[in-house]
Amino acid sequence: MKEKQAIRVSLLLSFLFLVTKGEGTRYLKHGEDNTRVLPYRQVKKTIQMKGGDVYDCIDVNAQPSLNHPKLKDHKIQMQPSSFPIWFDTESEFPHSWWEVQPYTIDCPIGTVSILCNNRSGNIIAHNIDGVSSIGLQTETEAAGIRYYDDVYGARAIINVYEPRVNKDSKDLSAAWVQINNGKGEHTDTIGAGLEVNPSFSGDTFVRFHISWTNGLYKKSCIDHSCPGFVQVDHKFGLGARIEHVSVYGGPQYAMGLYIFKDPKSKNWWVGYGKENTPFGYWPSELFTFINHKGDFVFWGGFVQGPTASSKAPQMGSGHFASAGFGRAAYIRNAQILNENNTYVTPEDNIKVDHRTSNSTLYTIDQFEVDTPGMSIYYGGPGSVV
Ligand SMILES: *[C@@H]1O[C@H](CO)[C@@H](O)[C@H](O)[C@H]1NC(C)=O
Ligand SMILES: *[C@@H]1O[C@H](CO)[C@@H](O)[C@H](O)[C@H]1NC(C)=O
Ligand SMILES: *[C@@H]1O[C@H](CO)[C@@H](O)[C@H](O)[C@H]1NC(C)=O
Repeated sequence: MKEKQAIRVSLLLSFLFLVTKGEGTRYLKHGEDNTRVLPYRQVKKTIQMKGGDVYDCIDVNAQPSLNHPKLKDHKIQMQPSSFPIWFDTESEFPHSWWEVQPYTIDCPIGTVSILCNNRSGNIIAHNIDGVSSIGLQTETEAAGIRYYDDVYGARAIINVYEPRVNKDSKDLSAAWVQINNGKGEHTDTIGAGLEVNPSFSGDTFVRFHISWTNGLYKKSCIDHSCPGFVQVDHKFGLGARIEHVSVYGGPQYAMGLYIFKDPKSKNWWVGYGKENTPFGYWPSELFTFINHKGDFVFWGGFVQGPTASSKAPQMGSGHFASAGFGRAAYIRNAQILNENNTYVTPEDNIKVDHRTSNSTLYTIDQFEVDTPGMSIYYGGPGSVV
């Protein structure tokens, strides 16, 4: 049952590209559901975290992502072949905050941790290419910064909040960085960030997720809900909760996040945290349109699901952007990776756009282009005022 729900939710994600490119909500026809459960073995250790999450430590070479037919001969890349260049002048953000990251999981070296919350035995790897983006009625709203041009990566610091999402709604609320390439439905997307996604995770905690859409097959996936994303870091798990969540009017926590294309292997890496730890990558074999570069970036909040507009959940802190630091959620240090493998702040304002899809539900405020990177406050209460 839970598996089925996971599938339905990952369906929603594929719609993000339609909306972030400003094409509005789409209603598509019914598609097939060729769910297939892939077994996984070689569990070296099982770890129960505080709060009940259960992780299996699986041999890095036996991870379920490798069941993807296009990855039959894939050789796992344990490290990026090089790191992007970034110039981080020490925090010029004039407010105090603490950097946090997902909870560390104590899997042994040579393994990766796979969240298996009471789903153990039959993982988590459904449809080979993901879940058809055809067949679900969904709504999306987004508030944040968009950049329209060639990119080789993107980064940001994301304020950690836990927006309220009705547990039974099948909607989600995310603070997200996404890179796309393609046209209309034929768009590949990769994204990472924080999400409250009850029908995927079974609870209303904010968790770290990645997702991607294959624009050729119009299918999308979250985390390990289907094969494809290769994990290498043994201390990190997709779906992990975050060490600390910001408190309205209280302590503020934020998390660094970056995505970049490995210039040699062409894989798209994702990393996080103070030390910019790379934890895994999307092999370039998975994609058609985003193999060489992206052509669009989104940083900000989005909500998505069957009632995400009509009975909209909270976004960000649940307060409007004008509430400012300590009360509204922010994105800062938003930068793109240029062709010379360097994170830079976009200079051309024509390529940058900041907006909200519906200012009754969610707002943006204090958009600034500064060093290092762009910043913005965003969010709102949704329909719950
Ligand atoms: C898993 O199941 C056990 C026993 O049924 C329960 O105590 C635990 O809270 C569950 N964990 C999660 C994350 O649902
Ligand atoms: C990248 O480097 C080349 C050679 O140094 C230079 O000509 C080009 O302008 C650089 N591109 C960017 C976007 O900085
Ligand atoms: C914005 O959301 C409100 C509340 O759900 C709704 O009444 C209004 O029609 C929406 N506006 C647009 C432009 O969609």
